[in-house]
Amino acid sequence: MQIFDAIYSRQSLGTVIPDPVPHEVIEKLLSAAVQAPNHYKVRPWRFVVLTGSARERLGDVMASTAKEKYPDLSGESLTKIMDKERSKPLRAPALVAVGVDKPAESKVIEIENVCAAAAACQNLLLAAHGAGLAAKWRTGDSARDPQVKEFLGFSPDQHLIAFLYIGYPENQPEPPQRPSFEDRTIWME
Ligand SMILES: Cc1cc2nc3c(=O)[nH]c(=O)nc-3n(C[C@H](O)[C@H](O)[C@H](O)COP(=O)(O)O)c2cc1C
Repeated sequence: MQIFDAIYSRQSLGTVIPDPVPHEVIEKLLSAAVQAPNHYKVRPWRFVVLTGSARERLGDVMASTAKEKYPDLSGESLTKIMDKERSKPLRAPALVAVGVDKPAESKVIEIENVCAAAAACQNLLLAAHGAGLAAKWRTGDSARDPQVKEFLGFSPDQHLIAFLYIGYPENQPEPPQRPSFEDRTIWME
């Protein structure tokens, strides 16, 4: 796939079939991810690949944090919320959680590390699209939750910028229609 075709036709696809994504395919996506630009070459991205029952364990953590978030809920309404949270990581056969290193030297700036990790995420999404996979970048409250971060091996003050959901698409959607760049651009000469 040509680069412009890939960029224009990529879209968030959250509906996938349960077929697993082979390990070597995920490795190819990660390899594409780390081609992203990063200031001072600090490679600030950290990937946690979750497949199989690891997704269930993540779901359990998400469910227990939901319980803490809604202390006034009980009974059926609490069960409903917890079940919903528990099922979230099962929406795709593979998830890549993307964390960002805190700067280890004073010259390194946190926002630039976040930018670099975000660029890696976009590389991964495009590579997934090029490989015929469906992918979706998700965050939500869980991405800011200290217990979820701890489960993934991140510290509470580290940014967890993405859960990249990856699988094989259930159907082939129409190409996306997006607003143009003009109203977001000025030219200076
Ligand atoms: C930082 C970030 C966080 C996102 N979080 C969510 C999310 O939690 N849930 C969701 O449905 N989509 C999420 N998205 C996906 C966007 O909603 C999606 O990219 C947008 O609707 C545009 O669709 P497209 O990717 O098909 O162009 C996120 C995207 C980014 C960049």
